[in-house]
This record gives sequence, structure tokens and C-alpha cells, in this order.
Amino acid sequence: MTFGNLLITGGCGFIGSNFVRYWLEQHPESKVVVYDKLTYAGRKENLADLWDSPNLSLVVGDIGDMEAVRQACTEHQIDLIVNFAAETHVDQSILGPLVFTDTNVRGTHVLLEVARELGLRLHHISTDEVYGHIRDNHQSIETDELSPRSPYAASKAAADQLVQAYAITYGLSVTITRGANNVGPYQYPEKAVPLFSTNAILGEAIPVYGDGLQMRDYAHVYDHCTGIETVLLKGQIGEVYNVGTGREMTNLEMVDIVLDTLSKDHSLVRHVADRPGHDRRYSMNVNKLRGLGWQPRYDPRRAVAEAARWYADNRAWWEPIRSGEFRDYYDRQYAERLAGAKP
Ligand code: NAD
Ligand code: DAU
Repeated sequence: MTFGNLLITGGCGFIGSNFVRYWLEQHPESKVVVYDKLTYAGRKENLADLWDSPNLSLVVGDIGDMEAVRQACTEHQIDLIVNFAAETHVDQSILGPLVFTDTNVRGTHVLLEVARELGLRLHHISTDEVYGHIRDNHQSIETDELSPRSPYAASKAAADQLVQAYAITYGLSVTITRGANNVGPYQYPEKAVPLFSTNAILGEAIPVYGDGLQMRDYAHVYDHCTGIETVLLKGQIGEVYNVGTGREMTNLEMVDIVLDTLSKDHSLVRHVADRPGHDRRYSMNVNKLRGLGWQPRYDPRRAVAEAARWYADNRAWWEPIRSGEFRDYYDRQYAERLAGAKP
């Protein structure tokens, strides 16, 4: 299966920009249109070296704007929409949840309507958070019940269900991938691994929520990109595929890797007030995707270490972010927590 023209929504964000870069390298015959609202997390500079390419263009717009999405698809003769666009940070969804419904639910719904009207395939990027907190030794499989517990996760689960409903009701050609916690280049520093890495580099405290024994599958964004590519090329229409390493570590183990990689002292760690409703453990079985011939290149330890190193090597990317509007968010989220923190 090959595709001509792709509309990549959210292509200026962390995973979207890594995917655009990867896709253009692997499929130089393809044309990519990035459709992005350029929120605080959407950064044109993530693709700075590629904007001159004749195969890449940018449309600035909201996925909730049906007329603008339709126009982008018709003008650029789009064959496939890959939907990365979303509000993505759980803590932001606790502070201000409504925009998560606007973009993640209604925005996805608009994309489905345009895909239906124009007869396009749609691939939707989802998350392991839709399965909710995973108990004991279970690993989520794609047919497990959805049990989201944060406003972010609930908005993503609602989107997944709309996508599946369009496949059933209208026969729309859809696929879904559910990714684990991604790490790697260009991740906005509100997320744990880039936040801890940049704080460590600056000699600032590392705010670990609660006891730090929550478990996550920290997967390299490169492996997420190859997983999505595999599903686009070989996945069965109408199906869902988990993408991760299938191996978790605690947040404290992740912090150790970050600090050791950056040669920073562990006395920077502060245990702060926990995230409300914090999911204790995510864990996915990724055998279905492996069955298509995919396998991850990175184990989680190497993924976290390489991500931390990227932040040490790319201060010019994150320093302007951290000194800007990010500071207001950081103070709202952490000032009180850090004031009452324990080492
Ligand atoms: P990100 O926050 O870095 O980027 C999101 C992008 O979407 C930005 O470019 C932003 O400008 C754009 N966007 C936001 N609202 C928009 C709107 N209304 N219209 C158009 N564009 C809009 O996010 P990310 O971490 O790269 O995540 C990308 C996708 O992958 C999301 O759907 C997310 O739920 C999913 N996901 C993320 C992870 C992770 O660990 N980061 C893991 C699994 C799944
Ligand atoms: O699991 C996939 C999800 O991973 C994606 O769907 C989300 O878009 C993405 O943001 C991420 O969600 P998490 O909430 O798991 O990631 P985050 O980086 O915010 O936090 C990772 C873990 O670290 C989590 O257990 C919370 C903890 N944490 C996070 C922050 C920001 C802390 O202990 N302290 C912090 O300051």
C-alpha cells in the first residue's frame, strides 16, 4: 500500500513533527501537508530544516474548523489524514479541561465528517491512557474495555469510540494506534522526562508526584513512528494496535536514569503533592503490532537516557520555551507543591 498526499494534523507537535521527519525520509515520493493550530505545544521550529522542501507545506488551522479542514483536503488532494492534533498534557487537563473536549473530541469528530464526505482514510493517534489504571500483572490488549480516569484520557477515549463508530456505521476506512509514554527529541518540557531533564540541567528541583512508584512504558518516539508506519502500510482497516515496548519502569527508576545520564546529583529530587486521580500503572501488550512484523529498536532505559541527552545537547530549542509563557504554567503547577515538598 502506498499513499500520495497526507494531511498530518498536529504535525508541529512532539510526535507529529518526529513522524513528518521520519515519513519524508522513508517516503520521499509522498507529499505531506501539516495542519496545525500552533498552540503552545505546536512549534514550527521543530521542522525548521524541512519547510523549504517541495514535499512539505503548512496550513495553520483548527481541526474543529470543518470548512478549513475540507479546504485543506480538497486543495491538496489528500488521500489520508493522520490525526496527531490534540491537547495532550494530563496536568493541563486538570487545570482547564474544556479545551480537551473541544479539540480531542469535537475536533476528531470534524475530521471524521470530512473524511466521510470526501471518502478519505483516517488514522487516529490514541493512547494507552484510555485503558485506565492497569492492575496486577495484566497488560492491556486492544479489545479491553476503555476506563479513562482523567479529563485528557476521557477525551481520547471518546475520540476512539467516535472513530470506531464511523467505521461501523458508515464503513469509513479507519485505523487507530494507542501509544505508550513517548520520549525523544522536541517533547515540550511540561512532560515528565523533558521537565526533569531540563530542571536537572538548570540545577532545579525535580518534582516527583507522590511516592514516584507509578509505572510507565517509556517508549522512544522513533519506535512510535515506525509502529504508525507499519499500521498505515500493513494494518487491517477497522483495527486498533497498541504501540509501546511492553515493559514498564517506575518513575523513580526513570528519574535515576535521567540524573545519571546528565551526571547530576540525586539530592535534586523532591516528592511533591500527587496528581489528582494519578493512574498507578499503564502496561500494554504489543503482540498484535509485532504480528505485522514491527519491533521496537529501543528498550525503555535507552529511550529515557537518549532523550535526556538530547535536552543536554539542544538547549537552544528549550531555553526560549522555558523562559516564556511556560513559566506562568510552571508556577501555577509547582510553586505551592515545591514549597511543601520533601526530599
Ligand atoms: P503535543 O502536545 O506535543 O502536540 C500537539 C499538536 O497538536 C501541537 O502541534 C498543537 O499545536 C496541535 N493542536 C492542538 N490543538 C489543535 C487543534 N485544535 N487543531 C489543530 N492542531 C492542534 O502532543 P504529542 O505529545 O506530540 O501527542 C500527539 C498525539 O499523540 C496526541 O493525539 C496524543 O494524545 C497522542 N499520544 C501522545 C503520547 C505521548 O507520550 N506524548 C503517547 C500516546 C499518544
Ligand atoms: O501514556 C501515554 C500518555 O503519556 C500520553 O497519552 C500523554 O499525552 C502524555 O502526556 C503522557 O501522559 P503521562 O501523564 O503519563 O505523562 P507525564 O510525562 O505527564 O508523566 C509521566 C509520569 O510522571 C506520570 O506518572 C506522572 C509523573 N510526573 C509527571 C510530571 C509532569 C511527576 O511525577 N512529576 C511531574 O512533574
